[in-house]
Amino acid sequence: MGDSKGNREHWASRAGFILAAAGSAIGLGNIWRFPYMTGENGGAAFIVIYLLAVFLLGYPLMVNETVLGRVSQRDPVGAFKALAPGSPWWLVGALGVFTGFIILSYYIVVAGWAMAYIYKVVIAVCTPGINHEAVFKSHITGVWEPIIWAAVFMILTIGIIAAGVVDGIQRWSLILMPVLFVIMIILIIRSVTLPGASEGLVYYLKPDFSEVSGRTFLAALAQAFFSLSLGMGVFITYGSYLKDHDEIPISTAWVVSLDTMVALMAGFAIFPAVFALGFQPGAGPGLVFITLPAVFAQMPLGMFFGILFFILLAIAALTSSISLLEVVTAWLIDEKGWPRKKAAALMGLIMFIVGLPAALGYNVLSGVSFPILGTDILDTYDWFANSVFLPLGGFFAAIFTGYIWGTNKAINEANKGKTSLSIGTLWRFLIRYIVPLLIAGIMMMGMYDSFTK
Ligand code: TRP
Repeated sequence: MGDSKGNREHWASRAGFILAAAGSAIGLGNIWRFPYMTGENGGAAFIVIYLLAVFLLGYPLMVNETVLGRVSQRDPVGAFKALAPGSPWWLVGALGVFTGFIILSYYIVVAGWAMAYIYKVVIAVCTPGINHEAVFKSHITGVWEPIIWAAVFMILTIGIIAAGVVDGIQRWSLILMPVLFVIMIILIIRSVTLPGASEGLVYYLKPDFSEVSGRTFLAALAQAFFSLSLGMGVFITYGSYLKDHDEIPISTAWVVSLDTMVALMAGFAIFPAVFALGFQPGAGPGLVFITLPAVFAQMPLGMFFGILFFILLAIAALTSSISLLEVVTAWLIDEKGWPRKKAAALMGLIMFIVGLPAALGYNVLSGVSFPILGTDILDTYDWFANSVFLPLGGFFAAIFTGYIWGTNKAINEANKGKTSLSIGTLWRFLIRYIVPLLIAGIMMMGMYDSFTK
């Protein structure tokens, strides 16, 4: 066994866990990925399917991971080793650590774009007649700038993780999350009060199921895993910093609600403004980097709102990237006995190097695309991580609790402490049957559609 229970760091308060976990969940997934996924997949119809995925799969799986972490007081690999000694189940934890590598390595690239845009948006807004697509293309095709910003972002991430669970993760989450909420609300008010905003609201709120296919379901499933930080052990790790009497069902319910609320809010900040100023919602990953600067350029005080928006995006990304690095760091601390600072710095460096191809995919390596899917390098990382590895991680974690470790133990663990919300039969049913069946079904259907179109 690794660390004894005695010297493991723990969250200092319930708010510490909730804000750190919400900080992990709320990120580029909510503000960058959710709006363009919605825009590409038919608006409100996608949102309905997404919400079903969040409540039927996301919440039960978040409770499951958190319980596995709290009961074992270990990192994802160690948790499975502790609960099923001598079995190969630790491989599920190892898959999570591996997936963390892939996600963080491309996450810092997009986060770096967000940081650069805190000042690029000024140029975009102040130059009349500028081609916003060309500005973004020239930013990502420039070799050095994106790499330098990704490095800056990684250094910030390493700095927070090196400072520890309470002095790093919890401290910065408590500072940054409230700032994020305030900025978000300012932006929504601006967006929905623009003349002509209602067309965007209709698009966002009125479902059209004619565009829905197997790919839509897989996209919604992947989005739910990504947005809630599920399937790779973030919640095992953050759960392992919970004390025995901390309440799991209600704290995780808060995290799911906050994450879903911020994703929906991002849509309210973006779509009304996009439609009001005559743009299209289906711009894909470029939506916030191309369409939004164009929107800000035409908006009164657009420069101010533009800067605010990209600060928001960078903050959200930072409280998420730290959770990705923490999983890998916790694994080295618990399983290999490494000191925290060394683990964080070295893993951060390796992830940065793994991320280089994702950044270079738009310039030096722009000829490279993944066969069949036709995606560039960054989107290929994204697709494999979110549509394959995260759902598989969630699937196996559910099977593990449902059939190996036992749902009775899990339910007892979850309901420890004074509980204002407890889980029981419904949760057991979801974890044993609904979650695995839905994940397997959606993955097969979505893969089939993705590879045959
Ligand atoms: N949830 C974050 C977002 O929405 C990204 C993230 C952080 C993540 N940790 C994760 C995604 C773990 C999957 C797994 O931006």
